[in-house]
Amino acid sequence: MKSAVFFALLPTLLSAVSVHAVLPVPQKIANLPTISNKFIIEVEDIATIPNKRSFKRSLDVVYDSLKSRAVKFDVTKEFDTAGIFVGAAVTLNTAEDVAAVANTEGVTAIRPVKSFKQPVLAKMHVLTGLDDVELPPSALSTHIMTGVDKLQAEGNIGKGIKIGIIDTGIDYKHPALGGAFGGSSLVYTGYDFVGDAYTGDNDPVPDSDPYDNCNGHGTHVAGIIAAQPGNEYNVTGVAYGAKIASYRIFGCTGVVSEDVIVDALIRGYKDGNDILTLSLGGPDGWAASSSAVVANRLAKLGKILTIAAGNDGSAGSWYASSPATAHDVISVGSVENTVISLQTAIVHGAIYRPITYFGTDPFAVLDERPIYVLTNSTTITNDACNPLPDSTPDLSKYIVIVRRGTCTFVTKLANIAAKGGKASLIYDNGNGFAGISVGAYTATLIQAADGEFLVNQFFAGVNITISFPQTGDRISALSSTGGLMSTFSTFGPENDFSFKPALSAPGGNIMSTYPLALGGFAVASGTSMATPFVAGASALLLAAKGKTPAVARAARDLFETTATKVPSSLTDGDPYQTLTQAGAGLINAYDAIHGTTLVSTGELILNDTAHFNGIRTFTVTNTGKTTKKYTLSHVPAGTALTVQADSIFTSFGPVPLSTTYASAIIFPSTFSVRPGGSQLVIATIKPPTGLDASRYPVYSGFIDITSSATDITHVSYLGLVGSLKNKQVVDNTDATFGVKTPILIDAVGDWQTAATNYTFVDGDWPSLLWKLAFGTPALRVDLVDSAIKITPTLSTRGLFSGWFSFPHPNKGGSFAQVKVVGPLASFDYIPRHSDLDDAPYSLFNLETPTFANGTTIRKGTYRVLLRVLRVTGDPTREEDYESWLSPILGISA
Ligand SMILES: *[C@@H]1O[C@H](CO)[C@@H](O)[C@H](O)[C@H]1NC(C)=O
Ligand SMILES: *[C@@H]1O[C@H](CO)[C@@H](O)[C@H](O)[C@H]1NC(C)=O
Ligand SMILES: *[C@@H]1O[C@H](CO)[C@@H](O)[C@H](O)[C@H]1NC(C)=O
Ligand SMILES: *[C@@H]1O[C@H](CO)[C@@H](O)[C@H](O)[C@H]1NC(C)=O
Ligand SMILES: *[C@@H]1O[C@H](CO)[C@@H](O)[C@H](O)[C@H]1NC(C)=O
Ligand SMILES: *[C@@H]1O[C@H](CO)[C@@H](O)[C@H](O)[C@H]1NC(C)=O
Repeated sequence: MKSAVFFALLPTLLSAVSVHAVLPVPQKIANLPTISNKFIIEVEDIATIPNKRSFKRSLDVVYDSLKSRAVKFDVTKEFDTAGIFVGAAVTLNTAEDVAAVANTEGVTAIRPVKSFKQPVLAKMHVLTGLDDVELPPSALSTHIMTGVDKLQAEGNIGKGIKIGIIDTGIDYKHPALGGAFGGSSLVYTGYDFVGDAYTGDNDPVPDSDPYDNCNGHGTHVAGIIAAQPGNEYNVTGVAYGAKIASYRIFGCTGVVSEDVIVDALIRGYKDGNDILTLSLGGPDGWAASSSAVVANRLAKLGKILTIAAGNDGSAGSWYASSPATAHDVISVGSVENTVISLQTAIVHGAIYRPITYFGTDPFAVLDERPIYVLTNSTTITNDACNPLPDSTPDLSKYIVIVRRGTCTFVTKLANIAAKGGKASLIYDNGNGFAGISVGAYTATLIQAADGEFLVNQFFAGVNITISFPQTGDRISALSSTGGLMSTFSTFGPENDFSFKPALSAPGGNIMSTYPLALGGFAVASGTSMATPFVAGASALLLAAKGKTPAVARAARDLFETTATKVPSSLTDGDPYQTLTQAGAGLINAYDAIHGTTLVSTGELILNDTAHFNGIRTFTVTNTGKTTKKYTLSHVPAGTALTVQADSIFTSFGPVPLSTTYASAIIFPSTFSVRPGGSQLVIATIKPPTGLDASRYPVYSGFIDITSSATDITHVSYLGLVGSLKNKQVVDNTDATFGVKTPILIDAVGDWQTAATNYTFVDGDWPSLLWKLAFGTPALRVDLVDSAIKITPTLSTRGLFSGWFSFPHPNKGGSFAQVKVVGPLASFDYIPRHSDLDDAPYSLFNLETPTFANGTTIRKGTYRVLLRVLRVTGDPTREEDYESWLSPILGISA
């Protein structure tokens, strides 16, 4: 998505932008946070408008009122679905008209329109054939990582579930995608909202056919959900029994304006889809955009919405993408495909499935060997961490079975080698099935359930032997990052501290379908690929548990509590990856559907220290058939140092981690629950101490709820050391331009240092440039008297500022007591800038001597006052704003 392209360029850009050079003061090309003349208005119910006369629709009341006041407006689209969204997309050409619409009775909200770029993938490689070196050895490794293979083996392929894909359209003529459109086809319905030629700058040309043979993104997404098995590459969708609706919102190239997305969301809902998935978005940090608002309503109504977390991982923390920011949707991060060879071992002496293990080559054991199990317990935490007892036999002829945990793999294997052991299988303890580092030893990881089986058989006296076939059956290829977060996956949290992303899914190195005209199959990387994976898993969930709103609303908690924790590296002992990138972990669809422990909430958001909420409760319900004894424990993840040392700027990704963790007291920490019973748990979490609060450390982790090695669920928590209200928002350094910002740029493009008069003739007008180091809920630009007596919080050196927008309501309080001559511009809920973006600043041109409402500014001398509210600040309190006062500006028009 948006700046994934910068991922590849990161090393160069980092050195060019943030270390060595400074950017030239930019040309006076406006660069504003939103499209300046497009808005989406929302109107109230006709019943609640007092003065509706004979009108039947609230929109007509509003139009009539605007016409009667000679307000010029152009309706580009209407939304008229009561209970979801009633409003219109409008083009308004003067600030005066914007103000008039905002003040019209019946209008409940006017939100500026955002535009979203085409998702730019971290990787997109069209496969050239079965001998392509980029061909992953297995199309199914992602299914194995997440338990989807086991669900499909049970026959759950998502039958009866409908999924709407809002994307670039689909090549439904692809044989793996059904080969046809409409009726009983896989792609059962859809709509093209835009047409091939749409770029975002021209008018959409809609039609009823969402066919795509020029873009490809949506076809790749569709295959991840629903590719039909049996194709030449064995690409198989997660829910290939589900039906797909295709909503095409991108042309062959270009951007999409948000009103089109809102339209598609509503249509996807009205068409009766159970799940809507959007692999798109842009950096935001807030949940206030129209698309986020509508997505959230649909989620509340009982639809599952899966939305990409974003591909801006290199831009660092606090960069959550919208509309994934919507509070009730599932924001999805990306985990690298294990792309490590999975081999199989054959069990003799008992009837058991082949055991899968990680390895590029088969285990170097040629004969069939008996197993030796070190400890008669499948829950021991420190198996073989100490020298083995004297009673241990010579292990050289055995395959040694040892449990993962507490000490490093190499320590365990050294202790085993001291007793002659030459080959070991380490069974997982819930940390996740992945490739591991074992030094020079012959050892590999197997899954917890397989380990438990071997332990139990051994101690029951069953003579088990294992052999390792040396040919065939390799089902995946080596990757040093498999199972880790993709570096491109965006870091949250949201500025209001919402938990983003919610969880992760395989999105790095994913093979799927591609338009036939463009090659037929491709390998791609992006949260665009992870998102449909979760949509597919959601279909399996609805197919298993019933497609009711209650199941849909509980889906996120269920996926979060059963997810597999994601490590920050493959070295055992390193912390888990910060939940600000991984969310609650890698989706485990099998456990989400078959787990028999239900935890009432997935997320404990502790907030910052100023709003700290550290004493939390949740319930644990045993939905199994036997009484279970639970043990609860605290498992921290790496603490994200979200801001650079001695700087106001956020850390670049990968965000550095600290191992200074929170602590937790859990009560009760052990208990038994009868079948169908529940237990209330109180978790008291204490933030870590001793961390530098100026790094804005975000700590996170899990409360694990364990009843057996295969029955582990968790609640995820997230908190901040420090107060967001202390976080400086406006960049007042000279880091970017070699001159301290904000600055006023004069007619010839120089930054203004002394009092300057502007005539507003032939380009003689000022521009205001600012850069935000952090997001803000409110940014205001006002014209004030040149002699104003206020002390701005940010140093002023004879510069100026100014922009465009609609007037903000007078909120009262000390903010309102600052005497302004009139507003020039305002923006609400805007994101920070990123040095990795094309233009890491905003630029507002005051091209005409007019206030935001269009009224002419009288001749005179003024200054521009820029005020930016800190996150969690009170909009009525002047003290909660950062302020900057420009040099004197003479308006002589
Ligand atoms: C597809 O699966 C079949 C059967 O498992 C296997 O023989 C074939 O090699 C696979 N093809 C690819 C490209 O993985
Ligand atoms: C192993 O442990 C199980 C469960 O605690 C017990 O029933 C069994 O007798 C033990 N077997 C041996 C050989 O110690
Ligand atoms: C396992 O093997 C041992 C030694 O070969 C033998 O004495 C024992 O009876 C076997 N046990 C079973 C259950 O087959
Ligand atoms: C965190 O606290 C702020 C300030 O009270 C509040 O606005 C915000 O909603 C809280 N965040 C969450 C996720 O509860
Ligand atoms: C700006 O215009 C005012 C009024 O016309 C004049 O007094 C002042 O000298 C001018 N300032 C500059 C810097 O030209
Ligand atoms: C426009 O804004 C200016 C400055 O706040 C104010 O003086 C003027 O009355 C407003 N005009 C209208 C038509 O609201």
